[in-house]
Amino acid sequence: MRTPFIAGNWKMNKTAAEAVTFLNEIKDALDKIEGVDIAVCPPSIAIPAVAEVLSGSKVGVGAQNICGAESGAFTGEIAANMITPFCQYVIIGHSERRAYFGVLDSWVNQKAKVALAHGLTPIICVGESLEQNEAGETVSFVSGQVKAAFDGFTAEQAASCVIAYEPIWAIGTGKSASVEQAGGIIHDSIRVPLAEMFGEETAQAIRIQYGGSVKEGNIAAYMSHPDIDGALVGGAALKAGFVELVANAV
Ligand code: PGA
Repeated sequence: MRTPFIAGNWKMNKTAAEAVTFLNEIKDALDKIEGVDIAVCPPSIAIPAVAEVLSGSKVGVGAQNICGAESGAFTGEIAANMITPFCQYVIIGHSERRAYFGVLDSWVNQKAKVALAHGLTPIICVGESLEQNEAGETVSFVSGQVKAAFDGFTAEQAASCVIAYEPIWAIGTGKSASVEQAGGIIHDSIRVPLAEMFGEETAQAIRIQYGGSVKEGNIAAYMSHPDIDGALVGGAALKAGFVELVANAV
């Protein structure tokens, strides 16, 4: 049985002070919601303050990126061991990192390996563009991203990961994928290749989130699909309505 998992990806929003104020407003309500794992992923500079305000809360903390190297000459990057005192999760290969910062499939694989080596749960993001979707390339493209991300993993390592399926055309656009569409793509492009790589049991153990314009009003429908185990939420995770969104997921 996969426990639902809702993660808020705050992207480049909220200062540390704003993050603390916001979490003080919502954390008690989030703590009362049972049957769901919850995390927030603030900008890296706010991570220590967020971890402090959430200590003793069930709400976990995630980073939005780590470097694929342990340390060294990587200007602007953050190493896994710098976030482990504060974080349980790390988002890897978000489409914005892939599009604006040149993150390649091979880096996603390396970053996820480093995350696992440090006891972090990677939230590995995959998803196709509108052009790929309209050209009928979704299954081949997304399954290719999955195979590259999990290349060389053991079944045990794979089972420790979370995947977020986020069609690029649905991110921040208000244009969410339909439940059947998202669930079908998750099944055909993610669950099936995972089963080929690691066996059915492992594929069934991995939690797969949908992401892209998830809101209070549509989360319950996504959760009703047997292959959707939660959501990676952008814009709707920045407001107090995030509490209702999480409540509606269970
Ligand atoms: P959105 O972003 O919910 O604002 O569409 C989702 C994401 O990019 O993780």
